[in-house]
Amino acid sequence: MAVTKRAGRNKAPNQPVKQQPAKRGVQKASYDITKKKEVGVTDLTLLSKVNDEEINNNLQKRFESHFIYTYIGHVLISVNPFKDLGIYTEQVLESYRGKNRLEVPPHVFAIAESMYYNLKAYDESQCVIISGESGAGKTEAAKRIMQYISSVSAGANSASIQKIKDMVLATNPLLESFGCAKTLRNNNSSRHGKYLEIQFNKQGEPIGATITNYLLEKGRVVGQIQNERNFHIFYQFTKGASEAQRQTFGIQAPESYTYTSASKCTAVNGIDDVADFKETLRAMDVIGLRQSEQDQILKLLAGILWIGNVYFVEDEHGNAAINDPSVPNFIAYLLDVDADSVISSLTTRIMETSRGGRRGSVYEVPLNVVQANAVKDALAKGIYNNLFDWIVERVNASLNSQEVANRTIGILDIYGFEIFENNSFEQLCINYVNEKLQQIFIQLTLKTEQEEYVREQIQWAPIKYFNNKVVCDLIEEKRPPGIFAALNDACATAHADPYAADQSFIQRLSNVSGNPHFEARQSKFVIKHYAGDVTYDVEGVTDKNKDLMIKDLLVLLSKSQNSFLAGLFPEPVDTGSRKRPPSASDKIRTSANDLVHTLSLSQPSYIRTIKPNQNKSPTEYDSKAVLHQVKYLGLQENVRIRRAGFAYRQTFDKFVERFYLLSPKTSYAGDFIWQGESREATLQILKDTSIPVEEYQMGVTKIFVKTPETLFALEHMRDRYWHNMAARIQRAWRNYLQYRIDMATRIQRAFRRSKGGEPALELRDKGNKLLAGRKQRRRLSMIGSRRFTGDYLACNDKSGVGNFMVKTLIITEPVIFSARAETLTSKFGRSSLRVERILILTRAKLYIIVEQVLNRQLSYHIERTIGIANIKYVGVSNLRDDWFSVVVEPSKEPDSFLWCPLKTEFVTQLREVRPSVEIRVKDVIEYKKKANKYSTVAFIIDNSVSGHFDIYKSGKVHVPSGLPANSVSAPTPKKKPGIGIKANTAGKLLKKGGGNAPQGYQLSQAASRPTNQPQQQQQQQQQHTPHQQNNAPSASRSTFSPAVSAATFALAQTRISSRPETGPTKTSSTASRPMPPIPALVSTLTPASIPAVTSAFSMVSSPAVVAQSQSRVAPQTVIPPPPPPPPAAEPKYKALYPYTANSASELPLTLGEFVSVKNKEGNGWWLVCNSLGQEGWVPATYLEEIKVVVRPSPPPPPSSNGPIASTKRKAAPTPPVKKSAISTQSTPVSSTTPTPLGGGSSNTTLGSGLADALKKKNEANQSLAGGLAQAIKMRAGKMNSDDEEDDDDDDW
Ligand SMILES: Nc1ncnc2c1ncn2[C@@H]1O[C@H](COP(=O)(O)OP(=O)(O)O)[C@@H](O)[C@H]1O
Ligand SMILES: [Mg+2]
Repeated sequence: MAVTKRAGRNKAPNQPVKQQPAKRGVQKASYDITKKKEVGVTDLTLLSKVNDEEINNNLQKRFESHFIYTYIGHVLISVNPFKDLGIYTEQVLESYRGKNRLEVPPHVFAIAESMYYNLKAYDESQCVIISGESGAGKTEAAKRIMQYISSVSAGANSASIQKIKDMVLATNPLLESFGCAKTLRNNNSSRHGKYLEIQFNKQGEPIGATITNYLLEKGRVVGQIQNERNFHIFYQFTKGASEAQRQTFGIQAPESYTYTSASKCTAVNGIDDVADFKETLRAMDVIGLRQSEQDQILKLLAGILWIGNVYFVEDEHGNAAINDPSVPNFIAYLLDVDADSVISSLTTRIMETSRGGRRGSVYEVPLNVVQANAVKDALAKGIYNNLFDWIVERVNASLNSQEVANRTIGILDIYGFEIFENNSFEQLCINYVNEKLQQIFIQLTLKTEQEEYVREQIQWAPIKYFNNKVVCDLIEEKRPPGIFAALNDACATAHADPYAADQSFIQRLSNVSGNPHFEARQSKFVIKHYAGDVTYDVEGVTDKNKDLMIKDLLVLLSKSQNSFLAGLFPEPVDTGSRKRPPSASDKIRTSANDLVHTLSLSQPSYIRTIKPNQNKSPTEYDSKAVLHQVKYLGLQENVRIRRAGFAYRQTFDKFVERFYLLSPKTSYAGDFIWQGESREATLQILKDTSIPVEEYQMGVTKIFVKTPETLFALEHMRDRYWHNMAARIQRAWRNYLQYRIDMATRIQRAFRRSKGGEPALELRDKGNKLLAGRKQRRRLSMIGSRRFTGDYLACNDKSGVGNFMVKTLIITEPVIFSARAETLTSKFGRSSLRVERILILTRAKLYIIVEQVLNRQLSYHIERTIGIANIKYVGVSNLRDDWFSVVVEPSKEPDSFLWCPLKTEFVTQLREVRPSVEIRVKDVIEYKKKANKYSTVAFIIDNSVSGHFDIYKSGKVHVPSGLPANSVSAPTPKKKPGIGIKANTAGKLLKKGGGNAPQGYQLSQAASRPTNQPQQQQQQQQQHTPHQQNNAPSASRSTFSPAVSAATFALAQTRISSRPETGPTKTSSTASRPMPPIPALVSTLTPASIPAVTSAFSMVSSPAVVAQSQSRVAPQTVIPPPPPPPPAAEPKYKALYPYTANSASELPLTLGEFVSVKNKEGNGWWLVCNSLGQEGWVPATYLEEIKVVVRPSPPPPPSSNGPIASTKRKAAPTPPVKKSAISTQSTPVSSTTPTPLGGGSSNTTLGSGLADALKKKNEANQSLAGGLAQAIKMRAGKMNSDDEEDDDDDDW
């Protein structure tokens, strides 16, 4: 499991360095406490008293409450429940996914999860060693691990990976059928050992597997003790064979065969052999065994069954003879050999004399019945054994990975320790292997652990435990010879007579009699295994050890016409060979040691299975039997060592490799930047992650972490790191996108400023002259920044709102003027009604367009088209109203009577197209309603009409008085000196001092440094004198043209002035106002920063400006809203009280002093400018607004949000986006304080609403992680404070 690491491999010990104190205060992981109530302790290390009895009690309590799993640290103890507890469902499996051991109740899935996690996270091969008595639940545990890994491992979408998973899972039923049998201990007892290694690629996808097979108990094929069974497959086949198979292979019921019926047990409760047979065949299909291969397997199984049915009788010479030749004949048919050869190889033996090592004569010796039966059984065992090996090899061939896989998860499911009444060679081998596994366990957990503490100079109190190496040596040692060596020697010297060989073995055992774990007892001997004393019978042991198939049989089988069978015995049969082949004990020793080696290459996990009773009972807890297991498994020692030990150890290198991201000293932007030793890096990481110093010890080459919680905390921080970085990247990208929009806007604005404005201004002046002195003027027409830009509905702009309209109406000529207007429709018997229209003027035509919503869709139609050439004159009144007539010739056409606040511009544009159009100014307007039906509209000054427009009623227009007819427009605002285009120079998206940065940039950068020092501020103001601006040599090097550069600079400054400030401590909004840092990348533009917009109606904003103002909505969702910008027509404010400034950014007020307000911050502070031009913040409550009004004709409000006089009247042409905002206004409200467009309070409210939401969201985000995240935040805080740029995440 994750938390136990073995001794470092090939690591040169670093010099120990004095430990640095680490910071305290890391929060331990807080784990789900809502899980099912546990009984006893889930981890035996938590027992208050550690002894075998307490351990046993705890296990019993838990077993009785159906908690079969308990930990000792990372070792899982599993008590066989002998019933389905419903704890392996998909749902349960899912609940273990991605969880660490402490988050979820103990479970075999948790072990599997940690193996798979470690495989991926640490790139280390894993293995799980499952040990325990026969029937304790090893095979079940192994299957559950396979189930889990197959389910959670990646590659679900890949057919080939899925196939591998299916095949791996299919190996279970296949190998169980051939390798498991019902024994007294276990209905599904594994009669072979199996080590399955699943191979993974870098993505953690299983790409293949290999199975290593250990010593099949082949003796079971030919005989079993009473009430046990042969291997499952024989019962499956004999019960489940198809009719065709029965015919072809001569298959009958299991009762018909000696090998399956002699032990008088052909059926087992809970085992459905027929169903299992189908499952076996299906598994063969899944693994890819061809039908021919499957048939061959079945054919050989039939052959084995029939071999068992050969009966020998004694002939007259006392030799074995076969009465009924039909059986050997049928065997010959099944094995594809000659029938006579079958008989002769079963009843005779080829003998060869030898003298002095040279071959002598060869002759045939007849066998007696006993010998013949032994030969017969040898034949059956040989075939089955090799068939089993072939199946394993065949499975491996199918599972063989095409890719290179260097990481594996190994699952060892081996036959458990067993003690029978009569124990023979098989039990010796099985128990030897278990002894070796116990040794590995001791090596890796107890001994190595303690040795490592010594080696690493870790403070540690040693714990005593029983080391079973002495028993392993007793069995496997060569010098002095152990039991296996004695056995081999006995076989070598007395090969002819089994009895003599057994006796020789007994004599040789005297060599080991000195071993305290050995006891000789006549024809038996006792080995004191770690798990108990076992008495072994000597009889037949040497024969079994020889494991030789009689050469005659090998010759027989190799001559088979059946290439499959012949292939199972492929070695060229050398009947003259005298070289001793490896004995069975040689094989098991070699493979056990190989296994130990293989396991030692992987990170081990342990499952120790315990068998609660011998009766397979789900309720019985045989306390004595379990206590015995608790003792021999060494659980107590395990707990003690665990309690004193460390949950996790890792070499400094590996530790740093995994966690370097957690310290800003070791990582930067995901890269490893540490220059020094890994030991110091480890300390740095621990320090920066605030791991308490008592939580770990520094060894010589490794760090030792005390509790798993600490490791999990580190892992958690590491996970969060990726999460945070992903968020950063996203933010950076979003900022970048916004930055692009911002920059585009700047460029557009600069361009408009420098190029676009002039002709429109000239046209305005021209237009004003047209009516000069003849018609009263509206206040808003006087605004100096008003321009005649013509196409207010953006018909010419591809993305403009009017473009859709002209396309729909197929007006292809360029639009010179477009605006919303109104006209009158007559209602019978009633006064005419005002209705909305759209005016479009092109070079050739004037269109009057109706806009309607039909079937929820906007539709347009042209109500009237007037040829420009036909327009005779335009009639207007002499008052300030917005009505005009378009009078046409020939006179049978009706004229148009229209209302449009942009009437002066309309007339001006029309005259541009057709200079001969006359403009008639009279006190009435006359026009033809229809041909020959004239109508006259009178105009009456009526100051009771509130609002900014006029009222039409029954041929009379009531209009408030306007400014005198000879009023002159305010002069066009001049560009403020010192304001120019300022390059965007701040923010991380730009390289510092980068590229071809112009000098202007440097100037502005200097100016943009935030400061609260007035002195510095003054310097900056000086820097922006016109002189400096003009002299800026930057222009020549700038990528901007000088003009554009200057304009952009000005705009940038304007923009800065509209930047949000959080309080009065910030500096003024003059051109030299310090630019706040980073947010430069986020657009904070308000509409007010564009003079054309701030100073006029929304409807007179140019299409491009409309587009900008739309695009500016988004940024307000990103940052707190800017305060309202200074209105163009500044209302005056009076100081109600004197105010003393408390800081340089505040402005003192004297009682009654008049100031203008530049910026109304929502926090109660306003930025004001006094008569001396000084700016500063004052409390809003100190000021009273002075309504500056031109008395006789109050100016109309320029606000699109503002009120509009008269019923359902539209103020003026407006881009559709704003339409609803104005058309819904019906109550005329008088206001003498024009609200600046877009800077109005509603915008601010919206903005601050969003800002609040954003703030809340941030707060929520911050509080989300809680617990461990706190630690991460602490670290992040450290990281940031260490960072020279001291940015927070948002500043990317
Ligand atoms: N976790 C379990 N849940 C339910 N039954 C189990 C469990 N483990 C084992 N068993 C039962 O015990 C029997 C023996 O288990 P098995 O794994 O074959 O033992 P081993 O391989 O250790 O000899 C299984 O066939 C099954 O019936
Ligand atoms: Mg088993």
